[in-house]
Amino acid sequence: MIERLERVDEVRDRLDRVRRGGGGVGFVPTLGALHDGHAALLRRAVSESSATVLSVFVNPLQFAEGEDFDAYPRDLERDLAFAASLGVTFAFTPPLGEMYPRPPVTTVSVGDVTSGMEGERRPGHFSGVATVVAKLFTIVGPCRAYFGEKDWQQLQLVRRMVEDLSMPVTVVGCPTVRDEHGVALSSRLAYLDDDERQAARVVHAALLDGREGHGRGEDALAVARRRVAAEPGTRLSYVAVRDDRLHIAVYVGSVCLIDNLGLADP
Ligand code: PAF
Repeated sequence: MIERLERVDEVRDRLDRVRRGGGGVGFVPTLGALHDGHAALLRRAVSESSATVLSVFVNPLQFAEGEDFDAYPRDLERDLAFAASLGVTFAFTPPLGEMYPRPPVTTVSVGDVTSGMEGERRPGHFSGVATVVAKLFTIVGPCRAYFGEKDWQQLQLVRRMVEDLSMPVTVVGCPTVRDEHGVALSSRLAYLDDDERQAARVVHAALLDGREGHGRGEDALAVARRRVAAEPGTRLSYVAVRDDRLHIAVYVGSVCLIDNLGLADP
């Protein structure tokens, strides 16, 4: 049985009890619309913790004007049943007014790791992410928190914020989960029609080509760019090398998909 909690004080109460009893807390923050990528995070959290808390909160601070905040897929009942089937103990599903009784004037920004790539494509996004994750960590308290590597820059931001602000959180990065065609799972895939879903395969394919080219001594960026250019219905936003990884963002129709892989990965 999963227990649904809407209030901050309830979350503190339940998790303090777990810790007082000597147990460890696992935490998986999400925007909801759970898929198998989230399932991998939740399964790992459940296997490594005495109690696991999932948060489902579509955080307005991380959506820019004109982005898909209103349209973002929401199906709380389904998410709760999915999480319960994985053995998750608590679901924190705060209404907007519980998280932000007033528009916050205190925000968190995490320097260099948030510049370029998604930081440039989505101005203000990472400050919204850092602010809500800092707030969620403050609510949940000491825990192990699980994040997917698909959102690489977000993962680096969280790691750096935790280190800089001495937050009592162990950040655990988990490998990207892909479908049988290599497409990295993402809630935004729900926006794609069948043709677009087919075209979306180019995102991972371009990374693989780029990495292969790199292995042959070619320019990985140029190789990846060429691959995307050859796929109708797609448009490259950026491709970059950072942290020894190749990162890419591609518009498929109006939906932007991001992905990355290690240049030295097998
Ligand atoms: O990756 C996400 O789902 C979100 O950015 C997060 C970490 C839950 C913050 O709202």
